[in-house]
Amino acid sequence: MRMYDIIESKRDGHELSDAQIDFFVQGYTEGSIPDYQASALCMAIFYEGMSEHETARLTLDMAHSGDIVDLSVIPGVKVDKHSTGGVGDKTTLIVAPTVASLGVHVAKISGRGLGHTGGTLDKLESIPGLTTSMSREQFFDIVRTVGCAVVGQTDNLVPADKKLYALRDVTATVDSLPLIASSIMSKKIAAGSDKILLDVKCGSGAFMKTTDDAIALAREMVAIGEHVGRTTTALITNMDRPLGQCVGNALEVQEAACTLQGNGPDDLVAVCIELAANMLELAGKGSVEECRAMVQEQLSNGEALQKFAQMVKAQGGDEHYVLAPECFGHDTCSVELKASCDGWIHHMNTEQVGLASTALGGGRATKDDLIDPLAGIVLAKKTGEKVQKGEVLATLYAQNGAKLTEGKNELSGAYTIGSEKPVHEPLIYARVTRSGVEKLV
Ligand code: URA
Repeated sequence: MRMYDIIESKRDGHELSDAQIDFFVQGYTEGSIPDYQASALCMAIFYEGMSEHETARLTLDMAHSGDIVDLSVIPGVKVDKHSTGGVGDKTTLIVAPTVASLGVHVAKISGRGLGHTGGTLDKLESIPGLTTSMSREQFFDIVRTVGCAVVGQTDNLVPADKKLYALRDVTATVDSLPLIASSIMSKKIAAGSDKILLDVKCGSGAFMKTTDDAIALAREMVAIGEHVGRTTTALITNMDRPLGQCVGNALEVQEAACTLQGNGPDDLVAVCIELAANMLELAGKGSVEECRAMVQEQLSNGEALQKFAQMVKAQGGDEHYVLAPECFGHDTCSVELKASCDGWIHHMNTEQVGLASTALGGGRATKDDLIDPLAGIVLAKKTGEKVQKGEVLATLYAQNGAKLTEGKNELSGAYTIGSEKPVHEPLIYARVTRSGVEKLV
């Protein structure tokens, strides 16, 4: 078999055979297929797409390119959760302990932030002492005893995706539906959970800019999950504005802890309740409506917060930061961004908000950049709110004035203020399951 023929076949719009896909994934992972041929194939897939069968085969091959985590040593149903990435998305920190406090195990393998989106590992590591790097046995032990743990990916988990994702990132082939679906689902399958809840973000801060594209991606991933016997549900949620009021690592952990204390911002609380309720439903705890009520109870009775504190302690972190989140603080240099006119906030370019946080030191432009855990943004006003000229829209924190200036310049371009009250945008657009698409608006 020759890679040339595989590229030509996809370029001409043909369906690839299982053997051709196997040949590509194996050869690219072990290094016998060079980057230039792999990028040509990715570009052909970008233009010609893939059938459901091809995408499922690609996903399975990638999942099996390295270790598969065997969670059978942990009793009960294990439910995973994955977000396609956004700005201010600290939901894992809230949802994982909430679900675990109701007896459902969450063994979560998370990633770091890159570009405008944040990463759960970076957020958690802003808690003094906490580690996200441990042996498989320690990870299982924490999940078994506490109910949840969040760790980083080892080198041998889905090596095919690691190589391919880095290549796509520099060859303008990231935003291809079958390539995104196979990249995400291969990691979920390798991570070993029985059930998967996907949070597919949609809007200016997400890969998928429209609800139709987000639903198409969700359908593809739900179909792959079904194909491999892992029941998968996807929620399509709004990322046309940042989630919650805080963007930045320690700031987001602080906001997550406040949410677990029952004092979270409305949008973050609402999305977390839906995500946690759907994870519990997947685990067989009841209908989504019944599970929603259970989640609300855990957020108000302090049990979800206690579970988060237990997880933090088990991972070596100082749990006092979670129980008294004001311990965190933020960088001492700060500046306020003020409204330039009276009106209503019509839109926030959410990617730009994420880039502003990166410029402040809260994110990475390249994967080797160091993060400042105490940098970030506290948003005072978001889309849909009325503002007066001179009113504070946001406070920015960084280690020095140069970073503050860069972050403020980026953030000031993110707001669009108009004279009319804007149309209210929903937080959750749709729920996608094996039974189909349930539009929620
Ligand atoms: N997240 C992933 O893990 N892979 C993609 O291709 C896009 C987002």
